[in-house]
Amino acid sequence: MAPDMFTFDEKMGELIGRYCLERLRQQPIELDFGGVGDPFEEELAGLLGELGHEPELVMERFTSVIAPRVLSADSERFLAFIPCAPTKAALLFDMVISASSLHGASWLESAGAVAAENEVLKLLGRLAGFSNTCGGTFVSGGSMGNLSALAVARDTGRRRHGAREVAIACSSASHSSIASALHLLDVEAVIVESVDHQLTGEAVERALAARDREVPVVGVVATAGTTNVGVIDDLSGIGKVARAHDLWFHVDGAYGLAGLMSENLRPRFAGLELADSFIVDPHKWLFAPFDSCALVYKEPALARAVHTQHASYLDAIHTEQVEWNPSDYAMQLSRRPKGLPIWFSLAVHGTLAYGQAVDAACAIANVAARAIEQLPYLQLLREPELSIVLFHRLGWSDEDYDRWSHDLVRRQIAFVTPTSFEGSTCARLAFLNPRTTEEIVNEILESMA
Ligand SMILES: Cc1ncc(COP(=O)(O)O)c(C=O)c1O
Repeated sequence: MAPDMFTFDEKMGELIGRYCLERLRQQPIELDFGGVGDPFEEELAGLLGELGHEPELVMERFTSVIAPRVLSADSERFLAFIPCAPTKAALLFDMVISASSLHGASWLESAGAVAAENEVLKLLGRLAGFSNTCGGTFVSGGSMGNLSALAVARDTGRRRHGAREVAIACSSASHSSIASALHLLDVEAVIVESVDHQLTGEAVERALAARDREVPVVGVVATAGTTNVGVIDDLSGIGKVARAHDLWFHVDGAYGLAGLMSENLRPRFAGLELADSFIVDPHKWLFAPFDSCALVYKEPALARAVHTQHASYLDAIHTEQVEWNPSDYAMQLSRRPKGLPIWFSLAVHGTLAYGQAVDAACAIANVAARAIEQLPYLQLLREPELSIVLFHRLGWSDEDYDRWSHDLVRRQIAFVTPTSFEGSTCARLAFLNPRTTEEIVNEILESMA
């Protein structure tokens, strides 16, 4: 018999609570991947029907069928793509959000949650060099943050440049979500050649001068920490060009702008203060759980003009009073307050601890780079700028990299996927987790001998 749906079931509470606490206590965190392997969907079939099942049985299916087929992105051995390394405080507070159905749709319904999120946005804005009038919201991830900011760039640009058809400049190293967003927004993407993987102000200026199309360029996107390589674009050069040509300047710092927390890295983001908008994902290098992206505008009123939703049933949330409705700043309405896990964790640990954790990832990237240089069968491809390390295994084919990557995760040593750099396949280590050790790095490198 399924329990009454709306009465708290002590046994089920204990079952779930025990699971959560055990997972939270796990140290080190297993990659926990049995592989997708044999068709397994049948093992889930039959659970969803007219009648319910005992929670123990459903939970057993979760632990035996579902969980082993989801890699632990928070494992210190997860070094592929851009991982996630949430603090325990942030994870615990995420449970509070679930348990209390906290939401953050509007100021009317959830002023407390929105105000706490705004504290985080203001902190990030201050670190970026914005004034206290900046603001925005948290959205699901970098892709949605970029889309929402570029919608404002497009509409503001259309108005300023008096044109309906507009273009926005970016580089070939911009994250794939930039091209997708421009496609959805029906904005032409002007791909500017980067110089040694970095987009520079000079290159943007040259591209603007060389343009022979009528369609005006109304914005430019720079990346603060490219996904594949970790390069920070020339923010101050691009910012100056943007000011000179009245372009919206958006900085995609989904990964790299976590470096704002580090006193060592912060100077590298000089020029960010010239941006009109930026994003940074707490679920990447700011140690919050999925899913969370901070989207900050210098002049939030410009975003309100684009994103505010109008409907008679929503009139109640738009009052004359000072209010901050997250739906005014991005493509969203109902929402989980995705900025609260980082708010809690920052309040508990302080920004210095965050800076140290960011620095620790850069330090282990540096350790890996030095170890690669020492090994005769490896070749470091580039000095890591942030915490991403690219290197070749001399003599390997694409198939060798694939086989090695699969074998590495099967043996639970690490999750590392190949990428390509300057036209050839290579290995890529993305460090975020301050608990990734030199021993783990050595295990990975030795596995390539
Ligand atoms: C620079 C950059 N921008 C945007 C994104 C997209 O972020 P999300 O996966 O949160 O949508 C990523 C993801 O890795 C990224 O590295």
